[in-house]
Amino acid sequence: MRVLVVGSGGREHALCWAISASPLVDALYCAPGNAGIAREATCVPIPVDDLDGLVAFAQSERIDFVVVGPEGPLVAGLVDRLTDAGIKAFGPTAAAAALEGSKAFTKDFCARHNIPTAAYGRFTDADAAKTYIRQQGAPIVVKADGLAAGKGVVVAETLDDALAAVDAMMADKAFGEAGTEIVVEEFMTGEEASFFALADGESVLPLAGAQDHKRVGDGDTGPNTGGMGAYSPAPVVDHAMAKRIMAEIIEPTVAGMKSEGRTFKGVLFAGLMIGPDGPRLIEYNARFGDPECQALMMRLKSDLLPALIAVSDGQLAHVDLRWDDRAALCVVMAANGYPGDYRKGTEIFGADAAETDGTVVFHAGTTRDPDGRLRAIGGRVLGVTALGADAAEAGRRAYAAVDRIDWPSGFCRRDIGWRAVARD
Ligand code: AMP
Ligand code: GLY
Repeated sequence: MRVLVVGSGGREHALCWAISASPLVDALYCAPGNAGIAREATCVPIPVDDLDGLVAFAQSERIDFVVVGPEGPLVAGLVDRLTDAGIKAFGPTAAAAALEGSKAFTKDFCARHNIPTAAYGRFTDADAAKTYIRQQGAPIVVKADGLAAGKGVVVAETLDDALAAVDAMMADKAFGEAGTEIVVEEFMTGEEASFFALADGESVLPLAGAQDHKRVGDGDTGPNTGGMGAYSPAPVVDHAMAKRIMAEIIEPTVAGMKSEGRTFKGVLFAGLMIGPDGPRLIEYNARFGDPECQALMMRLKSDLLPALIAVSDGQLAHVDLRWDDRAALCVVMAANGYPGDYRKGTEIFGADAAETDGTVVFHAGTTRDPDGRLRAIGGRVLGVTALGADAAEAGRRAYAAVDRIDWPSGFCRRDIGWRAVARD
């Protein structure tokens, strides 16, 4: 079959890497892709927000199946558009992607379906939000309703920080229209985990747990990022916890979405806080996590492509996936300055040679210049991912590969996986 993957990050490189290994694939394209993806797929320069261009390409190239990586085109309705054009696709419709696209929708949805999450209020009026914040006290969490590239959340330690966040989002429009409405919610304590499950609208299939490091600095300090590293499995999500997450969060969500006429097909990514009373939902995403996907794909032993097609066809009940018992750990290398301003175009040496058996360097913001040199063009640039008997061994292997890469203009955290290593 002829397959198109949409996106250009490390997540999409991991998806292309897994899909390219499928015997079902005759041709694999990626739009727009990156220098690493070009090893597995033919990259076509169509941006992910050019829905017309993507649909036209899929039609003219007789694509049989499209896998949509990022949230932007999902929320904008790419899967709806492809379906209307008679092209099969993996990912939720715009109506179902509201689970990621609108935090206010998701909070009300959780309330309607008794899904455990933080207590909250939603506001379109700044003064009302501030009154609620003063009543609740700090710490408290302020969130822009819409998509804000992972940056629309302020975990405020003090009342002043929370009130300032309301002004930044509502008056100063720090996140544009995403902040027209805000959600203010209870600060939850516990250990964070990411949980992934496929859903075909009715059936659900748990994938695996993972943990991500969102802060830029060692010791989980500094500003939030898209994710500086991840590992799977997540020790905090043992078998019993996975069963609770499925029964208390994932299954009621898929059933609730169906009952509300927003049938969810795709991958449901639950950001969870595992506290003393069990799992509670922090947020939903309607796509794979990045860099969690890189760790998950390293552990997946079954062919990914038929599972994704089964999601689209409503045949997930017949799918069984096998996982490597070993741990996988991904270290993100980012451009100096990220998540703030950073330079583009710096050269990276040794990324290909750093790979060994069981270690893959997934690319995110990379390109090849006309001379074939590898250059960084994004904030998060490489995802160095390794398998090992446990998180500690996977980490040693990943960092050994990181140390073989020569990129003076990049950095990484040196402590990815510290929680899991502490437990091993
Ligand atoms: P999000 O973009 O919703 O994943 O939020 C970013 C980060 O903010 C999360 O990974 C959590 O660390 C933190 N966070 C969000 N909501 C809460 C909450 N209600 N309580 C505690 N931490 C939170
Ligand atoms: N790593 C978190 C995310 O993909 O949103």
